[in-house]
Amino acid sequence: MLRVWRLIQGGYAIVKERETFASRLGFVLISAGCAIGLGNVWRFPYIVGQYGGAAFVLIYLLFLVIMGLPIMAMEFSVGRASRKSILASFQVLEPEGSKWHWYGWFGMAGNYLLMMFYTTIAGWLLLYFFKVAAGEFRGLDAAGVETAFGAMQGNVGIQLLFMGIVVVLGMLICSRGLKNGVEKVNKAMMLCLLALLVVLAVRALTLPGAMEGVKFLFDFSFDKLTWMSVLNAMGFTFFSLSLGCGIMVTYGAYLKDSTDIPNSSLWIAYLAIQTALLAGLMIMPAVFAMGQDPNAGPGLVFVTIPFIFSQIPFGWFFMILFNVCLLVAALTSSVSLLEVCIAYLQNEWHMKRISASILCYVGLALLGFVSALSFGVWSDVKIFDRIIFDFLDWFCSNIMMPLGGLSIALLAGWKAWNSTYVQVNLVKKYSASANAFIKFSLRFLAPLLVLVVVATGV
Ligand code: PFF
Repeated sequence: MLRVWRLIQGGYAIVKERETFASRLGFVLISAGCAIGLGNVWRFPYIVGQYGGAAFVLIYLLFLVIMGLPIMAMEFSVGRASRKSILASFQVLEPEGSKWHWYGWFGMAGNYLLMMFYTTIAGWLLLYFFKVAAGEFRGLDAAGVETAFGAMQGNVGIQLLFMGIVVVLGMLICSRGLKNGVEKVNKAMMLCLLALLVVLAVRALTLPGAMEGVKFLFDFSFDKLTWMSVLNAMGFTFFSLSLGCGIMVTYGAYLKDSTDIPNSSLWIAYLAIQTALLAGLMIMPAVFAMGQDPNAGPGLVFVTIPFIFSQIPFGWFFMILFNVCLLVAALTSSVSLLEVCIAYLQNEWHMKRISASILCYVGLALLGFVSALSFGVWSDVKIFDRIIFDFLDWFCSNIMMPLGGLSIALLAGWKAWNSTYVQVNLVKKYSASANAFIKFSLRFLAPLLVLVVVATGV
């Protein structure tokens, strides 16, 4: 079936229908699965710890509303209007001669860079799963757990092996297709993740002294808020909602015409926030109950938490659940990340899904090795004073994703506001005052905020 969209100032695009998600619930859970990843479960608790507790949470929520939601809805709209991969969608919709489609290249490069360090962490999590199950952390003190973590990072062979397993798992899911692979698996994993998080949060909250951790998360004290908290909250908005890398454009292309984009975006953002808060509620009460430091940074999950679980009754069991949570979050996001490249190869190179999946994952495995090696033989290689792994994390969160979001905001606010796809998908769904705010945010607020984040990041 063909559809015709009127573009900005009079142009038209003819668009072919394409495979769609089986259900709206599937779409919301898949997109939420993509948004909910290591960022929400691993990073959120430690950056909340580092950047001001509840004050940081509040600022993050504010950015989420003023720029996260409008940009997400716009990404879905571009995808649904074109029904194409990230690159082609802009080529179809942009006014002739313009360069908005460069965003597509940018997004795909961003996905690969992100996957490079994402799969390394997922590999650690898988390895931890087996270590915990084998009882390796039992009886260790905090220093012992830290030494075990350091030893794992120094063992390149084992890191590559487990990263490779994660890559193969992702490939198997993606190669089964959108409905039978990505949608089915992500749906099941997301529901499982939410249930496990609740169990773990209840366990942490029932430890003696846990309320201090809750106070830390929800007790607002603005004197803790610094300029760095604000910047990190902005960067984290893009990272936690998976914006600016073209994923939501890709998923928008599989969206049924009847699905309400603004409403679904709200649900996705809600699930992402709720998961991050649940992760906070599972980690901070335990950290405070056991007298640990909430500012432990990235090591919070790999050092502090295993130590805490090694100290409580049946801790090894809860630690296994915790690891499964993180692994599921990482897998659902990484499957989504590669979907962007697979859709591109299917769309532009007319490759079969299975060959596209194999090609993408082989490329990823090779690139991922670079990130994993930065803890071993390449630990001396520094980019902007950071080892490769840290550089990738910093570059994606603070530069690539915000710049991707900036392109979408500028396109939506300045160029495409009057086109039918924005009018039908977004504008007609809101009241006049909401539209005025969204337009203002897309035109001025979001671009300004992004430029501040990027400039400071650089
Ligand atoms: N939102 C994911 C997280 O919080 O871990 C990270 C992410 C996944 C970012 C996919 C971007 C993306 F395209």
